[in-house]
Amino acid sequence: MTPKGKITDQDYSFIRDLIYKETRINLGDSKRELVSARLGKRLRANNLGSYTEYCKMLQSRPNSGELYHLIDAISTNHTFFFREINHFNFLNSAILPSFSNGSFGSSRDLKIWSCACSTGEEPYSLAIALEEYFDKQQSSNWSIQCSDISNRVLDFASKGIYDSERLKNVKPEWLKRYFQKGEKQMDGYFRVRPELSKKIKFQRLNLFAPSFPWHEKFHVIFCRNVMIYFDRETQQELVGRLAQHLLPGGFLLIGHAESLAGIKHPYQSIKPAIYQLPG
Ligand SMILES: C[S@@+](CC[C@H](N)C(=O)[O-])C[C@H]1O[C@@H](n2cnc3c(N)ncnc32)[C@H](O)[C@@H]1O
Repeated sequence: MTPKGKITDQDYSFIRDLIYKETRINLGDSKRELVSARLGKRLRANNLGSYTEYCKMLQSRPNSGELYHLIDAISTNHTFFFREINHFNFLNSAILPSFSNGSFGSSRDLKIWSCACSTGEEPYSLAIALEEYFDKQQSSNWSIQCSDISNRVLDFASKGIYDSERLKNVKPEWLKRYFQKGEKQMDGYFRVRPELSKKIKFQRLNLFAPSFPWHEKFHVIFCRNVMIYFDRETQQELVGRLAQHLLPGGFLLIGHAESLAGIKHPYQSIKPAIYQLPG
């Protein structure tokens, strides 16, 4: 069934406000085309003929699980392996050496949080970088906590299976070392090796949940390419919250298209898109 007619002003406002309330993603008034295109699939899945019926369903059955599908449909999950390579260079040249030199104290367990991990390319790239670095230093260990609001991307990420197109930024030697090549019907696909994936945990988490479930603070937080979807007030709130989960001297890495300029925050600016909490 194809959706009847265009999304009305009233329906668009309802979806925009609901998304803002639940995720703080700021659709504004300009994303009408995008919203109607992405919701077409949800209308078909629910056998509904119009956006108005879909909005009514969300209102009358708020606990039906459709909200999760709505968030999955609206969130933008674009990502790729070794995205924004400067961050990986900085990790290798500055963060990991300072961890190894004891700048964070005597702990030998490096903890990283990828807080909008999407389909997993970011944390698996990080895992490769960490494994390559710490391979030479048997005395250290690492773990990566990953989270995202979208169940769909988390399902994908936790499988750790990628096709060769998605892996084009991964060096052939790393592909061999860190992935298992698929056979038969999995030809052309590669699965992250368990030695790597066992150190990576995925969990659904809204960055605006009343609290975060972490018992320990992180050395580094990757919060990349998610703040662009939030308004300034929300960005300020988020980076303030993240600071409470970083160790003194810990690093916050944001997307290169994002900036903390003009908002109140407790970090020192180190390089574009790299911030550090005072030690
Ligand atoms: C464009 S992806 C960024 C992926 C990766 N960090 C990168 O830079 O390549 C943005 C991710 O943010 C997630 N997201 C959006 N709003 C969120 C929220 N309120 N809480 C947690 N994750 C959210 C989306 O589901 C999406 O997977």
